Amino acid sequence: MTQKPSKHTSALRSLSLSPFPSTFRPSSLLMPPVVQLRDIRKTYRNGDLEVHAVRGVDLDIHPGEFVAVMGASGSGKSTLMNTLGCLDQPTSGTYHLDGVDVSGLDRAERADLRNQKLGFVFQGFNLLARTTALENVELPMLYAPRRIPADEMRERALRALDIVGLAARADHLPSQLSGGQQQRVAIARALVNQPRVLLADEPTGNLDSRTSIEVMGVFQRLNDEGITIVMVTHELDIAQYCKRNLIVRDGRIVRDDPVVNRLHAATELARLDQAETHAAIAGQPRP
Ligand SMILES: Nc1ncnc2c1ncn2[C@@H]1O[C@H](COP(=O)(O)OP(=O)(O)OP(=O)(O)O)[C@@H](O)[C@H]1O
Ligand SMILES: [Mg+2]
Repeated sequence: MTQKPSKHTSALRSLSLSPFPSTFRPSSLLMPPVVQLRDIRKTYRNGDLEVHAVRGVDLDIHPGEFVAVMGASGSGKSTLMNTLGCLDQPTSGTYHLDGVDVSGLDRAERADLRNQKLGFVFQGFNLLARTTALENVELPMLYAPRRIPADEMRERALRALDIVGLAARADHLPSQLSGGQQQRVAIARALVNQPRVLLADEPTGNLDSRTSIEVMGVFQRLNDEGITIVMVTHELDIAQYCKRNLIVRDGRIVRDDPVVNRLHAATELARLDQAETHAAIAGQPRP
């Protein structure tokens, strides 16, 4: 994977993803939260059975944060993410997304808000199989409130693919790409409408460890440019690439810690390369 910050950084700027240039960004905690949850509860009812999936969550996420949400299976992570993603309405509580009170919106208004403010990345990539990488990335622009001319769609999709290092693969079908490349196409698709927040539910769940680190490298680069990221992960080491770790248990946030000794994808990939080179040399027959 290419790691050329200068090229990608200029591509990111041209997508206007960051509200501030990286040299001047006010401390995020001074800015109003981009996500604000107050006493969010979600109860599923199936016949007589009630499942309290989320039981009173308060959460502020400020611009520029990079949050990992962890917890056991069934603890409520996806339910919480579906609320953040305006995909599902909470049973009670309030949610402000970039200052907009989501609770008061109807289904169509929520869909518009989702399209304007959020980008989604899923564990299974969710790309359309018979559609090229470029067309997959163009897809969210088809739902934009104003019609975007075809030329502009193509240009923006190419720029988003360039940011994830895949411009050269624009004409490939998902089946012609590796898992990591498919996930990078999905990240480009999530970026193309210039979201305020990127939401990812186990984005590395289907990837091997090297590819997972590469994907975390893409997220770290985007986050360095100011994009707020919230991701669910089961993997402790993957959470170490984020800046803040939340632990959910039985529908509540039971821990909320800053990441100390944060991992940096570029360093870890170099370390991995070195270890593999050593292993290859050690494996060679002696002269
Ligand atoms: N549509 C639904 N109807 C009924 N119960 C549901 C529904 N969706 C989730 N649940 C229940 O809500 C609880 C939380 O589920 P959720 O999917 O949020 O967990 P999770 O933390 O994402 O788990 P995993 O790590 O396995 O993905 C679980 O007990 C689950 O069975
Ligand atoms: Mg889940």
